[in-house]
Amino acid sequence: HQDEREGLYRLMNYAKDYYKESLLHSEEGQSIGLTYFRERGFNDRIIDKFELGYTLNEWDHLSKKALGIGYTVDLLAKAGLIVKKDDGRFYDRFRGRVIFPVHNLSGKVIAFGARILTKEKDQPKYINSPETEIYHKSNVLYGMYQAKNAIRREDFCYLVEGYTDVISMHLSDVDNVVASSGTALTEEQIKLIRRFTENVTVLFDGDAAGIKAALRGIDLILKGGLNVRVLLLPDGDDPDSYSKKVGTTAFKQYLKDNTKDFISFKIDLLAADAKHDPIKKAEAIRDIVTSISLIPDAIKRSVYIQESSSLLKIQETVLLTELNKLRIGDL
Ligand code: GTP
Ligand code: MN
Ligand code: MN
Ligand code: MN
Ligand code: MN
Repeated sequence: HQDEREGLYRLMNYAKDYYKESLLHSEEGQSIGLTYFRERGFNDRIIDKFELGYTLNEWDHLSKKALGIGYTVDLLAKAGLIVKKDDGRFYDRFRGRVIFPVHNLSGKVIAFGARILTKEKDQPKYINSPETEIYHKSNVLYGMYQAKNAIRREDFCYLVEGYTDVISMHLSDVDNVVASSGTALTEEQIKLIRRFTENVTVLFDGDAAGIKAALRGIDLILKGGLNVRVLLLPDGDDPDSYSKKVGTTAFKQYLKDNTKDFISFKIDLLAADAKHDPIKKAEAIRDIVTSISLIPDAIKRSVYIQESSSLLKIQETVLLTELNKLRIGDL
């Protein structure tokens, strides 16, 4: 299927160029798409770096053009660029939206995310490419192509939730950042990060969903043998909105001052409840030891047990007994 894959890469590249052209050179793209990006503070440099685009609000503009130069309906469907109906008719999947191309590690476009510009209640905010022969979303992190050199250089990687969080962090010159893009983090994505660094800082939205996703992410990252730190944003903010609110300098300072190792993060999160409630404290301790039990490396486990012992003011032997119970399957 090598030929088909090559065809898909070529078609996705064609679509990307077409969306870029529509953004920068069509009247509709300029007045709607470009205006939208400008309002979000995206400059020319960043639009170019992420190859952002716009898709005209028509049923079949892209597919008509692509068919006109010899691409087939079959390939357009396999690329996820059109949606086919039962009667054989079809229409473009992405219409009247701004476009965020997703690149693979060598910079080829393998998928698109498309954001709505208005606030229509019955329409999803983002529409994404489906799985295709060249796009397996569980193996991909948005922004990795643009981040990989910075991740190696800084030897750590921020993990954020959304497309616009990645882009806004680049606007603040924080380039070592990737996004899970709304899907739950996978083992494959963690292995991908591992090719560039062993250190991840989880920086999710400051809401209940973000905290829940962070807690799940922490355990998965620990299980993958990586070191994890956590940064919580003020309630209701994400990296994009917060950096816009406080400005680049204060945002970068916030990142510096508020990064915690996962133990302190969990203690702070659970401590509010647990302070005067022995049962809740016991639950919190068990929760933390459970996370530690996932770490493959015995020396790291022991270091974290020591740290927990001193932070939680509880004897190390008690924690170790609990840890050994949890790891009994390994023995
Ligand atoms: P902006 O509103 O543009 O700033 O996006 P956001 O990234 O802040 O969105 P949000 O925090 O709601 O969601 C995080 C990520 O989840 C997004 O970047 C998308 O990748 C994904 N996502 C959000 N809404 C949808 C949706 O309606 N459908 C799908 N498939 N994905 C979504
Ligand atoms: Mn495949
Ligand atoms: Mn959110
Ligand atoms: Mn968000
Ligand atoms: Mn946002």
